[in-house]
Amino acid sequence: MSKTDLSTLLLKWYDLNGRQLPWRVKGGAHPNPYVILVSEFMLQQTTVKTVIPYFERFMQRFPDIDTLARADLEEVYLYWQGLGYYTRARSLHTTAQIIMKNYAGKFPQSKQEILKLKGFGPYTAASFLALAFNQAETVIDGNVTRIICRLHHLTEPTDKITDKIRELATELTDSAHASDYASAIMDLGALICTPKNPLCRQCPWNKFCQSKNCADLEKIPYKTKISKTEKNGFVYLIFNDQGQIFIRKRTEPGLLTGLYEFPWSETHLYQDAINTNLTISHIFTHIKLTLNIQTLLKNTPPTKGIFINIAELENYPLSTLMKKVINTWQKHN
Ligand code: ADE
Repeated sequence: MSKTDLSTLLLKWYDLNGRQLPWRVKGGAHPNPYVILVSEFMLQQTTVKTVIPYFERFMQRFPDIDTLARADLEEVYLYWQGLGYYTRARSLHTTAQIIMKNYAGKFPQSKQEILKLKGFGPYTAASFLALAFNQAETVIDGNVTRIICRLHHLTEPTDKITDKIRELATELTDSAHASDYASAIMDLGALICTPKNPLCRQCPWNKFCQSKNCADLEKIPYKTKISKTEKNGFVYLIFNDQGQIFIRKRTEPGLLTGLYEFPWSETHLYQDAINTNLTISHIFTHIKLTLNIQTLLKNTPPTKGIFINIAELENYPLSTLMKKVINTWQKHN
């Protein structure tokens, strides 16, 4: 069976079984690359199911690249709230501004130019060019990696064989139908070749899969275990006499810059604070952070920041970490 036959089988399967997604068109390039830009940024670390309602709200408020470029970053954050990884929202906003300013609102179509924008690595650039412009690029995300490793029964940890995975994935790509092929292989991963309980009998590549009846099928792809550093600290819900709560805008460079937060620290900051005995944990890429929630009464801001009514919190973009803090506290009060 040649690679052409494999991609033909996959495309036929996709024609009948592919998902209808709000950012998707079948049959080639997307008429509106902005749709692909927004959806691919949202989908970088988040599942399709979670992304759909966020995507729909985002497109209603920022229907085109000019509207997004002219919006306040803080408002963009509000529409991103809950998706996490806010760096993506910042990069998307900057990319919209670059395209308006340097390209008069028209998307560049060369990989070299795309990589100069903000928030594009080689993989997002490839998926953007394939889906938006039907360019002969190969998409390699978690789904594709799993499929390629299973199809060829590759059992080394994926980070040790990235070149091999890319080579095999590229060989399989139907470059004349790059957009449909990219969508099809992502759907195969999401619907059939799932991490657990894959539906091998319904798989268009069943006959050619070298892992099909292997005991370690569900273990593939193998991954190098990354140990997470554990960190602990304190987060302070500071109230004034009117029951308002203190928030501040984070200015330190890093993942959470520009978002609002309650004061927190790895060391205990306020000796007169009351321990609620509530804790929340949050996992960042390499760190597991556990914060003990403390409350405190103060009538003057302890650092730069503002007191607001709790009902107003929804107008300020909070990190997922801080959302967990306030939700946990409210559940118990
Ligand atoms: N994951 C990343 N991009 C995707 C897309 N366009 N459709 C489905 N899943 C995806």
